[in-house]
Amino acid sequence: MGKALDGVRILDFTHVQSGPTCTQLLAWFGADVIKVERAGEGDITRGQLRDIPDVDSLYFTMLNHNKRSITVDAKNPKGKQVLEALVKQCDVLVENFAPGALDRMGFTWERIQQLNPRMIVASVKGFGPGPYEDCKVYENVAQCAGGAASTTGFDDGPPLVTGAQIGDSGTGLHLALGIVAALYQRNTTGRGQRVLAAMQDGVLNLCRVKLRDQQRLARTGVMEEYPQYPNGTFGDAVPRAGNASGGGQPGWILKCKGWETDPNAYIYFITQAPVWKDICKVIGREEWLTDPRYATPKGRLPHLMEIFGEIEQWTMTKTKFEAMDLLNAYDIPCGPILSMKELAEEPSLRKTGTVVEVDHPKRGKYLTVGNPIKLSDSPTEVLRSPLLGEHTDEVLKELGYSSEAIEALRAERVI
Ligand code: COA
Repeated sequence: MGKALDGVRILDFTHVQSGPTCTQLLAWFGADVIKVERAGEGDITRGQLRDIPDVDSLYFTMLNHNKRSITVDAKNPKGKQVLEALVKQCDVLVENFAPGALDRMGFTWERIQQLNPRMIVASVKGFGPGPYEDCKVYENVAQCAGGAASTTGFDDGPPLVTGAQIGDSGTGLHLALGIVAALYQRNTTGRGQRVLAAMQDGVLNLCRVKLRDQQRLARTGVMEEYPQYPNGTFGDAVPRAGNASGGGQPGWILKCKGWETDPNAYIYFITQAPVWKDICKVIGREEWLTDPRYATPKGRLPHLMEIFGEIEQWTMTKTKFEAMDLLNAYDIPCGPILSMKELAEEPSLRKTGTVVEVDHPKRGKYLTVGNPIKLSDSPTEVLRSPLLGEHTDEVLKELGYSSEAIEALRAERVI
């Protein structure tokens, strides 16, 4: 079966996490992704957090599936020639260098347009234009600058970063969408364009509901679904909401059987209004149905923490999976807190290709997260990441270089 992006060629100048997640997605949709790396060292993540000596790290392998790797010294004139030939043949150049690095290599937007007016140049940067545009940025900086850290954690604790890589992988996703949209627009304009996804913007986009709350707070001075209500105080900025639900349906994380020894024996419990009657029935508190303090969603808001405390007395008698089954029988929305171990072992995720076992010539078998986006006519087959420079000769031959010319470049350490 063909793939959605068959025929699209990506010149992949990305490294670390944000850019590679973007180009990996494009590769999974069928694009030919040619990753350019420096000879000898390659993407810095190949050597970071290694669990096996001298073998590409899981950090690298899990972000670079289905790509080809070539090594080229982009600062050498002959290396630049190779890259110029690639610019002419590719549809998209994706990069996440520090601000200005691509220009310093000689690949300004103007130069790229001269070489290939159809080329789309897609960049991840830490910040968009403004006071911080020249800064280097990593994941947690973006989480802090994009509003996630100030709104994550508990009221009495410091700002908190989240394990979900919303700055890197989140921005990679945003960029991938921008690239696909630019490819689509090129069908009518015939021209390429620049696509920018700034990590601060991507994180803020994912924190959209918190900017909603900022404005609600400014207008009313209080947010009744936040744990600060009714006894705590609100300042002038959105506070950290603990485990409160971000939507209109109050929720909290509750202990389940075994919580004393298992750090993940918890369940997220949502007191959705339409199933309130069932909640009362399941936990054996049917008197709440007629108690004015509990009978209506509005009446419950000042008592949410008491209510969750009572519900927890029930969840503590069940494992998180027992509670999940019992509650879902009544369509009560809830979710077990799953550990990475549980997710890695979950058969249904293996079946759908969301968790995939991949074989690598040097490290052997390892698990990865497959393509979370499923296209019915463009199935994803996850292929191992390339070894450093594995496809240099192959790609140079496709560009018309002879074996002798390739050997000469190698002797001069250009590739
Ligand atoms: N040949 C020759 N030189 C190469 C090369 C190649 N194939 N590939 C990269 N380089 C050079 C670059 O030209 C740059 O040189 P310069 O500084 O002289 O212009 C140099 O390598 C380093 O690139 P840089 O991007 O500055 O790497 P860094 O390790 O110092 O910084 C980041 C890493 C991630 C902080 C930075 O790239 C960044 O802020 N990127 C944008 C935001 C982002 O994506 N962050 C998330 C990363 S997960």
